[in-house]
Amino acid sequence: MNSVKAFAPATVANVSCGFDIFGFAIQEPGDTVELYKRDEPGIVITDITGDEGRLPRQAEKNSVTVVMLALLKHLGIKDLGCEVVLRKNMPLGSGMGSSAASAVAGVVAMNELLGNPLSRKELLPFAMEGERIASGSAHADNVGPSLLGGFVVIRSYNPLDIFTIPVPEDLYCTLVHPDIEINTKDARFILRNEVSLKNTIAQMGNVAGLVAGLMKADYDLISRSMVDVIIEPVRSILIPEFKEVKQAAISNGALGCSISGAGPSMFALSQGIENAQNAGKAMQERFASAGIESAVHVSGINQGGAVVLQ
Ligand code: HSE
Repeated sequence: MNSVKAFAPATVANVSCGFDIFGFAIQEPGDTVELYKRDEPGIVITDITGDEGRLPRQAEKNSVTVVMLALLKHLGIKDLGCEVVLRKNMPLGSGMGSSAASAVAGVVAMNELLGNPLSRKELLPFAMEGERIASGSAHADNVGPSLLGGFVVIRSYNPLDIFTIPVPEDLYCTLVHPDIEINTKDARFILRNEVSLKNTIAQMGNVAGLVAGLMKADYDLISRSMVDVIIEPVRSILIPEFKEVKQAAISNGALGCSISGAGPSMFALSQGIENAQNAGKAMQERFASAGIESAVHVSGINQGGAVVLQ
């Protein structure tokens, strides 16, 4: 095999109450990585599109190639020569798992080029290293679902214990990206390190309720559990019109609405595509009334995750 192309989807991390432990993949958008073998050893980025020239072009600094270098090191491969093309189809600092999608597409493409020595799950720690480069924290709630698909739960980071849970077939996500940028590093820095017992109890109840609601297809329970008393109150101040947009989603059919990842994107979950579309329209209108343009993506939960395209 001399060339490979892989696609990895955008993701919604945290999913309201599950900071760093919940995430799911959507169908589109996503990033694509193309690899072309060459005779000379070394990994070289030859082109990146869709980043307005902002991402580093050096292989040791870009998360898309850092994950490949880590994989090659792990496998003891020193002489591979490869050109890398990254096609970004989502904005940086969007809360849509942009850096995760690039890292996942990169590591999946490289694994394929090598004849798939590692399983999908075994690739996860390498993809997490990409997140460390991009945001200073090796969280798995974007790379996990982008790599594996479905709704992912990270029960533990040390040791890593990650699994997917079933979700109702008629569950749809509305993802609205306002034309603002938030740096994940900054959005993590503003969080408090201590949490009160009262808030911990409330959050644990909602985490348990959301998992049970999704697994039992109990839409009322999903709706009641989409409450984040720890992270959302702090981070929502970074998103103009947050409260109004959230209310617009819920008043127009959504089960719940919160920040997607570190923001500024906001997501809603709904029963049925029609509710998801109505919520999206209302959220977009609300942002527009404050002079903020936004892009809306409505999608079912992507069960497959990253795919090799050729
Ligand atoms: N769980 C991470 C955070 C996701 O909220 O900082 C970042 O996309």
